[in-house]
Amino acid sequence: MVMRPLWSLLLWEALLPITVTGAQVLSKVGGSVLLVAARPPGFQVREAIWRSLWPSEELLATFFRGSLETLYHSRFLGRAQLHSNLSLELGPLESGDSGNFSVLMVDTRGQPWTQTLQLKVYDAVPRPVVQVFIAVERDAQPSKTCQVFLSCWAPNISEITYSWRRETTMDFGMEPHSLFTDGQVLSISLGPGDRDVAYSCIVSNPVSWDLATVTPWDSCHHEAAPGKASYKDVLLVVVPVSLLLMLVTLFSAWHWCPCSGKKKKDVHADRVGPETENPLVQDLP
Ligand SMILES: *[C@@H]1O[C@H](CO)[C@@H](O)[C@H](O)[C@H]1NC(C)=O
Ligand SMILES: *[C@@H]1O[C@H](CO)[C@@H](O)[C@H](O)[C@H]1NC(C)=O
Ligand SMILES: *[C@@H]1O[C@H](CO)[C@@H](O)[C@H](O)[C@H]1NC(C)=O
Repeated sequence: MVMRPLWSLLLWEALLPITVTGAQVLSKVGGSVLLVAARPPGFQVREAIWRSLWPSEELLATFFRGSLETLYHSRFLGRAQLHSNLSLELGPLESGDSGNFSVLMVDTRGQPWTQTLQLKVYDAVPRPVVQVFIAVERDAQPSKTCQVFLSCWAPNISEITYSWRRETTMDFGMEPHSLFTDGQVLSISLGPGDRDVAYSCIVSNPVSWDLATVTPWDSCHHEAAPGKASYKDVLLVVVPVSLLLMLVTLFSAWHWCPCSGKKKKDVHADRVGPETENPLVQDLP
């Protein structure tokens, strides 16, 4: 029977100290990957076994008595192809396919050779979302500079890296800026000369990348446009009015003590609401 020599082959691996090399292979969900059965020059393969070691221990493919076999009941059943050069192709890959693999080969003189590989399967990064926040300006200086925060976000897939790029041909790199929270937030100061300058947020992981681009000056401009209240206006109007109303409410509550407590609470909540909102004007690209 075929199974007995296969088992003895595995037993052999368990008993003998044999050469092991390690390699890392990176791939993307939906793609396929070639696990190469590397071996020393002149190594004439008589038998080979591909196994998954972790997260589950499974037999994936064998080369035995000149025939290639992949129909083992592993999680890669139907997704594994053993090539005649003994490299194992897996695909289409799923996100749970990351793991450690080994190939044990025996040459015509009975010398074993084992190689282990680590496969890492990543999701392709989605397009990030960039939000523009305009910071409040001090009204002492009517200068046209605009303090901007750019925030970049991509869904929580693992090992993601954020970086920023100023999209211009005129400049050498970025002007003074600050980065926060692992590069997810960029703070920049824009002048009228930066009117057309676009910024890109680039998200990447080891196998893919994507970007989103905004022109933050447009948002500064919006803020000053007639009919749209800037945060400054909101502060100038809402704060005194709501303070006044709050005082009136408190005073009348104190003065007209028998009135219902619930009503007081409602008026209070309505008037104070705008004050507690996000202190930044938000603009989606
Ligand atoms: C082995 O065969 C596959 C499929 O024909 C090929 O893509 C690959 O380049 C070959 N060589 C090695 C070293 O895997
Ligand atoms: C998988 O292989 C890597 C690299 O060889 C090793 O560091 C890691 O400990 C292995 N993981 C398990 C669970 O065996
Ligand atoms: C983000 O992580 C949470 C918890 O780990 C998970 O439930 C959710 O599906 C993830 N979202 C995305 C888009 O991957």
